[in-house]
Amino acid sequence: MAGLIVCEAIWKIYRVGDVEVQALRDINLTIDRGEFVAVMGTSGSGKSTLMNILGCLDQPTRGRYQLDGMDVGTAKPDVLAEIRNRQIGFVFQSFNLIPRTSALENAQLPLFYRGVSIREQRKQAAAALQRVGLGGREQHYPSQLSGGQQQRVAIARALVGTPSILFADEPTGNLDTASSREIMGILAQLNREDGITIILVTHESDIASYASRELVMKDGQVVQDVRRTPHLSVVQ
Ligand SMILES: Nc1ncnc2c1ncn2[C@@H]1O[C@H](COP(=O)(O)OP(=O)(O)O)[C@@H](O)[C@H]1O
Ligand SMILES: [Mg+2]
Repeated sequence: MAGLIVCEAIWKIYRVGDVEVQALRDINLTIDRGEFVAVMGTSGSGKSTLMNILGCLDQPTRGRYQLDGMDVGTAKPDVLAEIRNRQIGFVFQSFNLIPRTSALENAQLPLFYRGVSIREQRKQAAAALQRVGLGGREQHYPSQLSGGQQQRVAIARALVGTPSILFADEPTGNLDTASSREIMGILAQLNREDGITIILVTHESDIASYASRELVMKDGQVVQDVRRTPHLSVVQ
């Protein structure tokens, strides 16, 4: 069976003025459905560039990227947007919630773009907030929630469209240790119970230890790729 994500000889080259940056250099990578992968590496090693390509936010300069059997490396922008909306959820370090907009409305957003009825948007967004332990906080604005709770709203928003893959780029980077554990517990649970494939960028090894596979990047290349037993923390 082919992998969910298959990268063949992927390069990403940025040109800024006369300077050429080889952000990704010949990446060959297969990720199967249901994996929980941590991508590690120092700042500037290409982690976000790889995530953006795998998440269909950007395209490789060279090489082939197949997602679920489809060639997306060369797909048109509207096709990419559709794939993102249907298949992919994103969680970022900075939460990226819309201010002065309730948790419920933030979580509804992907369904709004799909043209789902308001009633159905609300129902599914409420269920997603419940799933991340935020039942009862539907009407709170982001400013009325803690950092950990805001990140949970972002996870609910990522989940509401029932994606097959969740990309998380330093999701705990702005959180204290306790909130980080909560967020990682939720991600581990989504992977285990719902079978969602998770690809997580982090530079902290205790955060990476929740994953069952660890990739280490250096200078635009994957220099280490190991599978191991994840640290399964009990979710309270
Ligand atoms: N939009 C861009 N334009 C030019 N260079 C970029 C751009 N994005 C990233 N880079 C460069 O590509 C390299 C990899 O960056 P990035 O993927 O953000 O690394 P990481 O997420 O591991 O810190 C760095 O040298 C960075 O300066
Ligand atoms: Mg980065």
